[in-house]
Amino acid sequence: MTHPGLALPRKIAILPGDGIGSEVTAIGRRVLELYRDKKGWPLELWDLDLGADRYLRDGTTLPKEVFEEVRDRCGAILLGALGDPRVPGLEHARDILFGFRFGLDLFANVRPCKALDDALVPLKGKGKADVDFVVFRENTEGVYVGMGGNFKKGTPDEVAINEDLHTRKGVERIIRAAFEHARTHGKKTVHMADKSNAMRAVGDLWQRTFQLVAKDYPNIVAKHVYVDALCLYLLQDPSRFQVIVTNNLFGDIVTDLAAALHGGLGIAASASIHVAEGGASRVGLFEPVHGSAPDIAGQDKANPLATVLTVGMLLSHLGYPDEEARLEAIVGKALREKQCTPDVGGTLGTRATGAYVLEQLARELS
Ligand code: NAD
Ligand code: IPM
Ligand code: MN
Repeated sequence: MTHPGLALPRKIAILPGDGIGSEVTAIGRRVLELYRDKKGWPLELWDLDLGADRYLRDGTTLPKEVFEEVRDRCGAILLGALGDPRVPGLEHARDILFGFRFGLDLFANVRPCKALDDALVPLKGKGKADVDFVVFRENTEGVYVGMGGNFKKGTPDEVAINEDLHTRKGVERIIRAAFEHARTHGKKTVHMADKSNAMRAVGDLWQRTFQLVAKDYPNIVAKHVYVDALCLYLLQDPSRFQVIVTNNLFGDIVTDLAAALHGGLGIAASASIHVAEGGASRVGLFEPVHGSAPDIAGQDKANPLATVLTVGMLLSHLGYPDEEARLEAIVGKALREKQCTPDVGGTLGTRATGAYVLEQLARELS
């Protein structure tokens, strides 16, 4: 990431959330503690008891005063995952996740897809050299806005509507963020993925805006791809892609697929940021791509490496860009030496994988 946040406060809200969220966030928190204690960086860690347990206990989701403290006095949020089978309507998850994403206007959900080890690329004849791209997912619009409803609910005549809302401003800023990323990272191509053959109005807005923004970046090739074909091409030859920009829903789907190209959800990191003119200046939300994984929760099976990489993005956002590369290198070493969980080829549990990462990091920082 390229958003030096030197003006940002060093207070970090930590929200482990549900299921494996608390297991992997515990490792992420200890990584931050090491930077605080070994480097003497003024990181202030603020633990938040929010998630399904709290919601079931007293109905609290995201209190206004917590939101305001995060907005006004934090540089970052580290979030585990939200989603619990005991809350089938996911009321708390939506309040908290969308409360931050929408409430803080974190319009750019940046999801890197970079293979750190040949063995983690599941495609025949492909290796890590073939998988290195980043998805810019629009994070504040689309079908996620929750406009719509049910009519004649529960009857045979029921109608359900979810509006797909896109604004010129919203489309332009995410496309521009993708091109800016390409420009500052020496990437040659930006692909915009949509479904303009079926969804004319929205597709037309994205197409026109993409062409317009592309004019400001004459050295970068701007290519359009239908999102269904993108899924095909990603499996056939991911090396075609460097930067992909797309809407909220397509970005959600494509980034789970992308995760599978470099080791799965256990290793896929993500950042939701507001890219202000001249760099990020707002609190950002940092969370692995994965969810609360109820199927493996509480069993010491969850891979914490996605969280470690996510902490790298967080530190970069706070103005410590070198630490993203450092943590990536340590994760790469853990993978090569098989000091990791079974989903990425190791035999360790969550805690032992975390201990390995922390030991490597402690050695480097002392
Ligand atoms: P999921 O990402 O939780 O799990 C999908 C699969 O990947 C599961 O088989 C799981 O075991 C595996 N997996 C996920 N993370 C892993 C890790 N770190 N290490 C090893 N394996 C891992 O998706 P789901 O099962 O569809 O959703 C579960 C809940 O999480 C739902 O309530 C969903 O809404 C929620 N969710 C929350 C977030 C978030 O808070 N950011 C993101 C995605 C899903
Ligand atoms: C993600 C998740 C969320 C999303 C869910 C939990 C609402 O899948 O962060 O990828 O769709 O954005
Ligand atoms: Mn998702």
